Amino acid sequence: MKTNLCYDGCDLVELALKYGTPLYVFSKSMIEGRCSEIREQFIKRYGGSHAYYAGKAFLTLAMCQIVEKEGLGLDVVSGGELHLALKAHFPPERIIFHGNNKTRQEIEIAVDQDVGRIAVDWEGEIDIIDKAAGLKGKRASILLRVTPEVEALTHKYIRTGHRGSKFGIPLERIPYVVKKSLSLQNLNLMGFHFHLGSQIEDYRPYIEAVDVITKVMSDLRDDFGFVTKELDIGGGFGVEGFEKTTSKPISYFVDPVMERIKARCSEFELPMPSVAIEPGRWIVSEAGITLYTIGSIKKIPGSVTYVSVDGGMSDNPRPALYDAKYYAEVANKMGRPKDKVITVVGRCCESGDILIEDLAVPSDLKPGDILAVFNTGAYNYSMASNYNMLPKPAVVFVDKGKDILVVERETYDDLLAKQKFIFNV
Ligand SMILES: Cc1ncc(COP(=O)(O)O)c(C=O)c1O
Repeated sequence: MKTNLCYDGCDLVELALKYGTPLYVFSKSMIEGRCSEIREQFIKRYGGSHAYYAGKAFLTLAMCQIVEKEGLGLDVVSGGELHLALKAHFPPERIIFHGNNKTRQEIEIAVDQDVGRIAVDWEGEIDIIDKAAGLKGKRASILLRVTPEVEALTHKYIRTGHRGSKFGIPLERIPYVVKKSLSLQNLNLMGFHFHLGSQIEDYRPYIEAVDVITKVMSDLRDDFGFVTKELDIGGGFGVEGFEKTTSKPISYFVDPVMERIKARCSEFELPMPSVAIEPGRWIVSEAGITLYTIGSIKKIPGSVTYVSVDGGMSDNPRPALYDAKYYAEVANKMGRPKDKVITVVGRCCESGDILIEDLAVPSDLKPGDILAVFNTGAYNYSMASNYNMLPKPAVVFVDKGKDILVVERETYDDLLAKQKFIFNV
């Protein structure tokens, strides 16, 4: 009897044989399902609202095509991400361009390509955007990214809305920056943006931030007559990490926040702004599984059993960076009793390259078995490196029994493609 793990109609062990490992596998239908939930539960229910998929979580040409077809916008954070989106024929007017240190050249390209919104992260950026727009005879629509001074409960490296954050314009500088933006002829100030961080599991920090920003909106209306048309509350909606449990629905996050924005606007007699969200992880994390082949199995006397896989922090740096927790199954030995506890380690030359601690697996685990690590769709492929000259894995989409290669595995020659000799050979 076959005991292989199947995903979106595909046998994962067969996929590992066909494409090799490590391998990123994404369920296309699950990504589409998440986009459709956002459409039904947010965009359709709240008039004037928008959703931008945060490309930093996972961005390829194929992913851009799905986001486009699903009717969402796209959040890009660098010239490279913008370039990819434009190559994928993503409509520029549906793109928002973020980043705490966009270069002048990146801003010029964004203006030239008529990117829909530029989120301004620091004071000097408004002059750069204004100048770039003026030279092209255009008017750039901007949002000001505000640091709302809200501490979201998440790892400190992925917290961004607290006082002292490197992201956004400090609250006390907002009146000055608004006044200045309104005085520049080539800018169209649409409103504000905040982003509290990533992997936030509770909606309440968003409520706190809404309270802060709506007070700012009210003061700006009173002081300068500026009426906020758009409010972007960022992304960060968390997903379940360890066991294979299902994440909270999008309505868990957006419903109370929308209710609060409405209540605060009515309290301050402000018109309701058009509200945008920017989820990345929530859309792709659970859709992704990474397949590895098990290699060395090392029982340390009196201690743990290390089981090495053929990837590691090079394709998933998150456990080492943020102590992120993952869960896995042995894909070719499903349904067997799990009577052995192991530590899954990567093959990189770092003692910190530990993917999973205390994982229960069948006792007949052997080299050559296939390990499927769940919930690796977000910030794995996009944060992968070539440390130890390891080629980046291929990416395959599965869709109701079909598999589609969307990114080829890197070759050793790819790794040398940009290198030069200094002596004649
Ligand atoms: C400005 C902005 N928007 C959206 C996101 C997406 O966050 P997440 O993937 O946690 O939803 C990020 C990620 O850090 C971000 O910096």
